[in-house]
Amino acid sequence: MAATLIELCGLISTSVAKVDARCKDLSTEYPDLNNPANSEDSESLLQDGAIAAATSIAIAAAAQLIASMQYPARSIMDASYGYVVATALGVIAESSTAEIIREAGPQGCHINDIAKKNGMDPMKIARLLRPLATNHIFREVSPNVFAHNRISSLVDTGKSFEAIQAAPEDKYMGAGGHAALILLNDDETFKGAAYIQDVVLDKVSEASDDELNTPLNRAFGTHTDLFSWYEKPENRKRFKRFGYAMDVSRRLSPTGAILKGFKWSDIPENSLIVDVGGGIGSLSLEIAQANPHLRFLIQDKAAVIQEGTQYWNTELPGALASGRVTFGEHDFFGPQSVKNADIFLLRFIVHDWSDTYSHKILQHLRDAAQTTTKLIVVEHLAPLACEEDPAFKHIPGAVPDSYPPKPLLPNLGIVNMAPYNVDIQMMSLLRGCERTFPHYWDLLKKAGWEIEAVHRPLGSLVSQIVAKPI
Ligand SMILES: C[S@@+](CC[C@H](N)C(=O)[O-])C[C@H]1O[C@@H](n2cnc3c(N)ncnc32)[C@H](O)[C@@H]1O
Repeated sequence: MAATLIELCGLISTSVAKVDARCKDLSTEYPDLNNPANSEDSESLLQDGAIAAATSIAIAAAAQLIASMQYPARSIMDASYGYVVATALGVIAESSTAEIIREAGPQGCHINDIAKKNGMDPMKIARLLRPLATNHIFREVSPNVFAHNRISSLVDTGKSFEAIQAAPEDKYMGAGGHAALILLNDDETFKGAAYIQDVVLDKVSEASDDELNTPLNRAFGTHTDLFSWYEKPENRKRFKRFGYAMDVSRRLSPTGAILKGFKWSDIPENSLIVDVGGGIGSLSLEIAQANPHLRFLIQDKAAVIQEGTQYWNTELPGALASGRVTFGEHDFFGPQSVKNADIFLLRFIVHDWSDTYSHKILQHLRDAAQTTTKLIVVEHLAPLACEEDPAFKHIPGAVPDSYPPKPLLPNLGIVNMAPYNVDIQMMSLLRGCERTFPHYWDLLKKAGWEIEAVHRPLGSLVSQIVAKPI
């Protein structure tokens, strides 16, 4: 056993030495945890191949070292208290505490001064911030005085507290940081997650093919799909926030990740990309900005299109007016009317729905496809916690070429938690799931699509699954 601990320590020290050497080569410093991140650029170092690889090994080894060394009763209790950090983060984001702390400056802000602005009980502010600071999210710089660090600054929208008070529904419009996604996770997803146990252990509910049999519906006493639920007047704030949360989820991968992998620049002039269930169109925006030769049709529900129009007029003025980018109302469970698409793009759509419902979406696209149309599904590909089945080695990108050094887990442990996090989120909000490669292969094949390749650009959390009509 001690030998394993020594091996893990060795992996940490050699990986950190590699990071240090690479930083020296690049004449730069690794970002300091105590410094608030001031822009996405300050984190761009992690997009360097050598640094990203060594960092992943160090993190996986450090987490495994903790699991190996900590008293198991402590580990299991800490895991069962997983809601503590999520709860605290949700309240801090919703109460605009992060903005108040930033406005106070680098010396930090006393809980009484935070309370004077957002009206919360000062002791509760401290009780919520302290477990976060203990997990390296914020710093307690002196008794009851909290300041930002590199991680907590992502809760901050960058807006003034007064501006947020004046227009709370617009808090995330044009905002920096990750607050919109934090609150999607720690508000409705979290409330639904509290009911996962009740739903998955209820045999009647599990046997039913009712797509609305979700923990979210049980939590809120409703019986509607998530997207119609968002359109209820009482959910106006959540509805607007959801669109911006999707924009944040794009930013979790390095800027331009969607432009690497599939070669958008090689598609002929004027090709039409149909972004099905495209939301406000944040993924299309990134592709459109870099590829002025492509046309886009973003399809979604009417209410979402309204938000999308506002988003594009802010982010890429002129694109809608010129007609290069259009929005269209469309129900993806009905026949697809666009028959001349060069690419059908689906991001975070298939993972929302059960296999039965996903099949309907994919089949409608297959029915509308030309022989040359490609389908690009952008989703998390859920790895196994052991080595993958090599059966799909012949599909480029489907199976890893190699695995991390032993004794690390083949999926690199906590480094790759994102697909499982989002999978449980789907279990809370909908009846969808994150899928493994063989699961996608079967699902697409049954709907008439054959996967040609999988791209996962460096640092990207999601994969691009490229398929052609069978
Ligand atoms: C998880 S979001 C993904 C949005 C977008 N693809 C992105 O990645 O930013 C799912 C989207 O599907 C849309 N949607 C849900 N049901 C739909 C339906 N029946 N027809 C068309 N769009 C739908 C929602 O309004 C929402 O914008």
